[in-house]
Amino acid sequence: MSTEVMDLSAVPETWTRRHLLDVESLSAEEIHVILDSAVAFKESTANCTQKMPLLTGRTCANLFFEPSTRTRTSFSLAARRLGADTIDFSSTGSSLSKGETFIDTAKNIEAMGVDVVIVRHRTPGTAELLAENLRCSVINAGDGAHEHPTQGLLDILSIRERRGQIAGLTVALVGDIAHSRTARSNIWGLKKLGAHVIVCGPSTLVSPRWAELGVEVSNDLDAIIPRCDVLNLLRIQFERQSTRPFPSVREYAHLYAMNHERLARAKRDILILAPGPINRGVEITPDVADGPHSAILEQVTNGLAVRMAVLWLILGGNS
Ligand code: CP
Repeated sequence: MSTEVMDLSAVPETWTRRHLLDVESLSAEEIHVILDSAVAFKESTANCTQKMPLLTGRTCANLFFEPSTRTRTSFSLAARRLGADTIDFSSTGSSLSKGETFIDTAKNIEAMGVDVVIVRHRTPGTAELLAENLRCSVINAGDGAHEHPTQGLLDILSIRERRGQIAGLTVALVGDIAHSRTARSNIWGLKKLGAHVIVCGPSTLVSPRWAELGVEVSNDLDAIIPRCDVLNLLRIQFERQSTRPFPSVREYAHLYAMNHERLARAKRDILILAPGPINRGVEITPDVADGPHSAILEQVTNGLAVRMAVLWLILGGNS
């Protein structure tokens, strides 16, 4: 980890990407450039909310086809903090209901002079599809269960900030791994930076095939807790499940919720993350979510910094 704050006067020459579609294709160096830029933006905006006019004249469009609180609002705020204009498209109430196709909708938004489209959609590969069909840049804000790159990056930044580095840490992703785009982005990023990654949850949500990604697979949270430096508690995505993957929410919480009894068996400096939204009492009890080991709201703050960094890297080099 570099101790020098990155210079924001020009996008690094090593950065050549027009899109951010996933973490899988990023190199470790590119991940560090994003994280170091985010730190610089965080420090520059820490004591004032004055805009940094690095993207004046640029336009960022949010195209969200699924609900969002954190990602959507922080991309909008990040763009405005950088002096860009923003368009917030919502599929509800749009001309999609009149039969306009997804690609036609995106092309019409782009035709208003948009420089980057930030897209969330339930279908894996949607961001890549847009990158192939639009001339502007595309950022993936979550495509089905594939990836949510800025969430993975902000989670990793939150770990690096508290623990100094990623290499050598044991990080467990706990919960609904099967439906989690955040899990995939975390796995790719954490492994590239040298962490040991464990995926843990009921066998119906954590198949042994996850080992093919080079991670350890466990169905026993109590067995792995003493070895973990970080637990990232992933939400049970009830809305994506046609049948419930465990007998009852109560049983899930009994086996997998992070509570004060489990905290007592963890390392003294265990770091607790949760991407949000959280189901209080399901993946995590309120006392742990709001306690000193939790970095849940720091993750949200870091999300703004990471999204400023990503917008600046993608749009700032060719203004
Ligand atoms: N973590 C996350 O993506 O939150 P939102 O769904 O609220 O954007």
